[in-house]
Amino acid sequence: MDKLQIEGGKRLFGEVNISGAKNAAVAILPASILADDGLCNIDNIPDIHDVKCLENIMVDMGIALTSERDGHVKINPNTIKTYSAHGENVRTMRASYYLLGALLGKYKKAEVAFPGGCSIGVRPIDQHIKGFEALGAKVTIEHGYIKAEAPNGLKGANIYLDVVSVGATINIMLAACKAEGITVIENAAREPHVVDVANFLNSMGANIKGAGTDVIKIVGVDKLRGCDYSVIPDQIEAGTYMVAAAITKGDVLIKNVIPKHLESMTAKLIEMGVNVEEYEDSVRVSCDKRPKAVNIKTLPYPGFPTDIQQPFTTLLSVSEGRSIVTESIWEGRFKHVDELKRMGANIKVEGKIAIIDGIERLSGAEVMATDLRAGAALVIAGLAAEGTTTVTHVRHIDRGYEKIEEKLRRLGASIIRITDNREYFE
Ligand code: EPU
Repeated sequence: MDKLQIEGGKRLFGEVNISGAKNAAVAILPASILADDGLCNIDNIPDIHDVKCLENIMVDMGIALTSERDGHVKINPNTIKTYSAHGENVRTMRASYYLLGALLGKYKKAEVAFPGGCSIGVRPIDQHIKGFEALGAKVTIEHGYIKAEAPNGLKGANIYLDVVSVGATINIMLAACKAEGITVIENAAREPHVVDVANFLNSMGANIKGAGTDVIKIVGVDKLRGCDYSVIPDQIEAGTYMVAAAITKGDVLIKNVIPKHLESMTAKLIEMGVNVEEYEDSVRVSCDKRPKAVNIKTLPYPGFPTDIQQPFTTLLSVSEGRSIVTESIWEGRFKHVDELKRMGANIKVEGKIAIIDGIERLSGAEVMATDLRAGAALVIAGLAAEGTTTVTHVRHIDRGYEKIEEKLRRLGASIIRITDNREYFE
């Protein structure tokens, strides 16, 4: 299992290109199954482990999928041989649940192993199931599989989500695209990746309106076709480099972004005294003094994203004063705090709240990436710490960050990957 070894204290300077959005790509790939004819040519697919996993699952199902050149994927879904997705890859990732919505939408039946994903709290799928059932499907969970069938077809329905859920919103859109009549999703998630999936489906011939608001209306169509599409940039990868620039007192131009998607993070950085300049498709982040403490509360979009909370916690751990971070989406998303404490951070966690008293400087230590964003938070800590930091369990980081050490090295960081083929006892 690989480790990242970082010599802290180098300021980051230069330019970094942001890859395609993980959470859009992992929904758009399964969404391509809905095409009745033609090929899906999708660009800006990030080169990350979660995407590779999903591609392998789809290939195992008989789908003709080729990763052609940098970030380009070509899919002919109509070579599919099974409506069942199983195996280790399905169980270890979260987004495999989108196969349910896509298969159900197209073939009116699906069987998918119960999904896994980062260990950041209880991750129920009751809202997905409620949506499928409202559309007329029978859903059962047996022997570790979720089975959904609608032998009499799917019919449009009004669905009110009890919690704002990205996954349920997207899954219901997938299932409803070809349902008979009109589906309305109320209290829908408004994340940029929800909008991106709706745009992709509309490019295939779907009729989806309102994505990006909390009411999405889907008028069912008979047929969908392949299309050419390019995935939006990853707002969380961009936010990660914004924090890395700030904590190292660097000056970095973060390219290939949609600045509007970064607004909540930009606003917090400015409140902390960090300089952020917005351009058409890039942002420049620079910092020449110790940032100030701020309070943060994670919320569904357009609120402050839970996925960037952990990297921000690292920045707050060396900011001046006391910050309060409230995590309101996931109950297990402070696992990085114990690791930051090994590096000297002064943070107290009480339930959903972390109270952070900023210290002058972290000190390098061996720390463990317990999940994807915890890993990113620890890499950022290592960049700013005095001495050497070794981040273990890097496979979590590889799930969602494309070539993280190469991108950071190009900005001047001293970071190397140590490949170790031995397995750890977890
Ligand atoms: N929830 C339910 N019932 C459901 C679904 C969700 O109660 O049926 C609750 C969850 O427990 C959570 C809240 O609703 O408290 C939001 O969950 P959501 O469904 O929005 O999360 P998700 O779709 O499982 C996606 C991202 C996560 C990101 C969340 C929130 C993907 C593959 N994952 O997860 O990304 O944290 O939305 O924005 O899109 C990450 O990238 O690091 C990551 C964990």
